[in-house]
Amino acid sequence: MREFSVSSFPQMFTKEFDRRVHLLSAVLGLSILMGVSFGTYALWPSNLETGYRPQQPIEFSHAIMAGKHEIPCGYCHTTAEKGPHAGMPTLKTCMNCHERIQPRDSRGGLKPGIAALLDHFSSKKPVLWEKVHDLADFVYFDHSRHMAPSAGLDCADCHGDVKSMERVERIHSLKMGWCLDCHMQPPPEGSPQGRTTRAPIGCTTCHR
Ligand code: HEC
Ligand code: HEC
Ligand code: HEC
Ligand code: HEC
Ligand code: HEC
Repeated sequence: MREFSVSSFPQMFTKEFDRRVHLLSAVLGLSILMGVSFGTYALWPSNLETGYRPQQPIEFSHAIMAGKHEIPCGYCHTTAEKGPHAGMPTLKTCMNCHERIQPRDSRGGLKPGIAALLDHFSSKKPVLWEKVHDLADFVYFDHSRHMAPSAGLDCADCHGDVKSMERVERIHSLKMGWCLDCHMQPPPEGSPQGRTTRAPIGCTTCHR
């Protein structure tokens, strides 16, 4: 018969068993880590497909500026019809009006957005607007191609009713399926002859 002693205790678990426990805990640890990273990535606000509406450094209301006061989109997004990017207004563009128009609240103080605007302008501090829409870099997109009369589109087809938004919100996923859904529709009146879809769907249209 074998005698048990303290020194024989480690042998209670075979080497093979030990190896398996280590492997199992490594796999478990790794999957928890991966799960957490994936969850963080998927739920991180700027990675949400729709509904992303970040706070901006100056509370800028499209509902007031583009809606109530009907300033045309192109007044501020000057290159949307001419180039790949819609473009952002410079503070000088804002000051075309706000040099004079400086609304105050009921207690006589400048509206917070106006105070922030004047502060940025006088100290020449650029405003870093948070991007609401941001396509993957490997995708080619051009605003002017979509604003051409033959395309028959409006800003609202892709951005929604910005005129009524207090804060801009991403309402479409900007995923490949979204682009293709529209490109695959039958061609409208005035589209280039001989095309069976509304817009080209070859891979190199958007991946070049
Ligand atoms: C008076 C200037 C002004 C006018 C007019 C204006 N915008 Fe903007 N727009 C801005 C500024 C400033 C921002 C950045 C801050 C923000 O997101 O609110 C912006 C942001 C946006 C964004 C989000 C950009 C991004 O980061 O993805 C969209 C989309 C947009 N505007 C569409 C429109 C449309 C459509 C119209 C017309 C209905 C319009 N804008 C009229 C100034 C203007
Ligand atoms: C074409 C003229 C025009 C331009 C350009 C313009 N605004 Fe305005 N803005 C107005 C008018 C009009 C009002 C409303 C004034 C009032 O309520 O009495 C206003 C109101 C505002 C307010 C106050 C909103 C509130 O009531 O809380 C902010 C903030 C503002 N603008 C920011 C900007 C910024 C930032 C830009 C540049 C990206 C800009 N505006 C460009 C005309 C303009
Ligand atoms: C066919 C869909 C489509 C139409 C129509 C469209 N946009 Fe866009 N817009 C996009 C996409 C996609 C992006 C993101 C581009 C990127 O990240 O490179 C974008 C980005 C923007 C931005 C952020 C700055 C930039 O250029 O990346 C602004 C501002 C904007 N659009 C305004 C407008 C305005 C104003 C109109 C109408 C004159 C308009 N868009 C029409 C799809 C569209
Ligand atoms: C709401 C409809 C719509 C959506 C959404 C849309 N497009 Fe388009 N796209 C068009 C139309 C219409 C044309 C122009 C077809 C024509 O020439 O008449 C076009 C043209 C293009 C062209 C130029 C094709 C060429 O070779 O002439 C590119 C590139 C393009 N789209 C990329 C994209 C990408 C990338 C997305 C998604 C991020 C997208 N589009 C989303 C309707 C759309
Ligand atoms: C109308 C524009 C458009 C066309 C045409 C298009 N793609 Fe894409 N593609 C996109 C956009 C936008 C994304 C980015 C999606 C994202 O950010 O997740 C993308 C992403 C991808 C990805 C990365 C994986 C993914 O799904 O995010 C692959 C791979 C891909 N495209 C392959 C193709 C192939 C192959 C074709 C031709 C059969 C094609 N694409 C045609 C717009 C287009």
